[in-house]
Amino acid sequence: MPKGTYYFTKNFLWGCATAAHQVEGRNENNTWYAWEQEPGRILNDAQSGLACDWWGGRWQEDFDRAQAASHNAHRLSIAWSRIQPAPDRWDEAALDRYRQMLIGLRERKITPMVTLHHFSEPLWVAEQGGWENEDIVELFAAFVHKAVQALKPYCSLWVTINEPNVFVFSAYIDGVFPPGKKDLKLGLRVLEHMVRAHARAYHIIHELQPEARVGTAINYRGFSPATVFAADRWLSNLFNKLFNDTFPRALRDGVLHTLLNKHVIPDAAGTQDFLGLNYYTCERVRFNPFAPGNLFSQRAFPADSQVSDSGMIAHHPWGMIECVRWGHQFGVPMIITENGVDDEDDQLRPQYLVEHLHDLWRIINNNYPVEGYFHWTLVDNFEWERGWTQRFGLWGLDIETQARVRRPSADLFAEICRTNGLSADMVEKYAPQSLPKLFP
Ligand code: FCB
Repeated sequence: MPKGTYYFTKNFLWGCATAAHQVEGRNENNTWYAWEQEPGRILNDAQSGLACDWWGGRWQEDFDRAQAASHNAHRLSIAWSRIQPAPDRWDEAALDRYRQMLIGLRERKITPMVTLHHFSEPLWVAEQGGWENEDIVELFAAFVHKAVQALKPYCSLWVTINEPNVFVFSAYIDGVFPPGKKDLKLGLRVLEHMVRAHARAYHIIHELQPEARVGTAINYRGFSPATVFAADRWLSNLFNKLFNDTFPRALRDGVLHTLLNKHVIPDAAGTQDFLGLNYYTCERVRFNPFAPGNLFSQRAFPADSQVSDSGMIAHHPWGMIECVRWGHQFGVPMIITENGVDDEDDQLRPQYLVEHLHDLWRIINNNYPVEGYFHWTLVDNFEWERGWTQRFGLWGLDIETQARVRRPSADLFAEICRTNGLSADMVEKYAPQSLPKLFP
């Protein structure tokens, strides 16, 4: 078998992605904390609690781990509810703590990427109607101004809103994220406010920091028809358009097309310097006239898929190629802002990692501009409505003791980051079953 290495491009960003509510702990003034207090909302009624105790200072040891593992970038989010705990109050000490985290990354030669909204808002914002109220655009703008002004000496890579498509779907159609509604019309209004809020944030950040690079992170889900029937093809096309295309298209063109109507938002045109892509899995779509609540669809993973512990993710690395090819239509460089799998015993993760990176390498070598890869995630964390049932970390977490347990994938990823490449030796050592496929 030939031996070799697939090298990535110069200055490629390698690291992990995290989100404030999932790792910080004691984040008690936001919508997710309130949601956790309602029985039945989170699997096993779990609570984020101390999470990974980053607010208590354990970010330092985790950034040490990232540094020792040769990561050169890290994506984290900051909590609006900590920085602006009440409408008329800014918490300078909280801002300073984030400042210390970003300095901590830079001291470790790790480039920070900061997400300004990752699924949670302050309770006072929710009390005013949250994303349903158009006032959120100006409220968010004030927060972004404050945070970016304070943190711009340490960061120039910003994600305004994480996965607006997942947020709207989960909070307003599926009802599993707060505020737990099932109201498509309301969801589309929220989407419009998110486009407007992103556009305001984009312009504010560029005014404050001309050299900034600003984007969003879209969850790309590969939908394809389950059969050749026209209804399946039509529906999977519709899902691609609605779920994947809507947001980045609005930021490219300044026009938001929804199922029901069209909003012209000129300020939004050309407001992405890069496109962040969160790719996990893909699925097949079948038309089902008896499932109106499910948008007349039945969705399933392709037959014989290898699936993750919780069954949420199927291993389909070629979806990475489809994702990047799809993202290219928006005309800006791309960054993989999330990719990973829940796998407590690290059985599937090494294979998932090398095969997704191999397909990423292939598409980059077809001249598609991708500048980096962030793995989800560094240490096991609180996974939203799934609570503590999913283990996405390169390091495991003992929630009782806060002890971190290194999984083999942490070492595999470290070798990839250190060499800026994926070699046959690494694949042979960590994911031998992938060797014939990757190095035939
Ligand atoms: C993404 C979220 C992230 C994490 C992963 C597993 O949709 O952005 O916070 O929960 O899924």
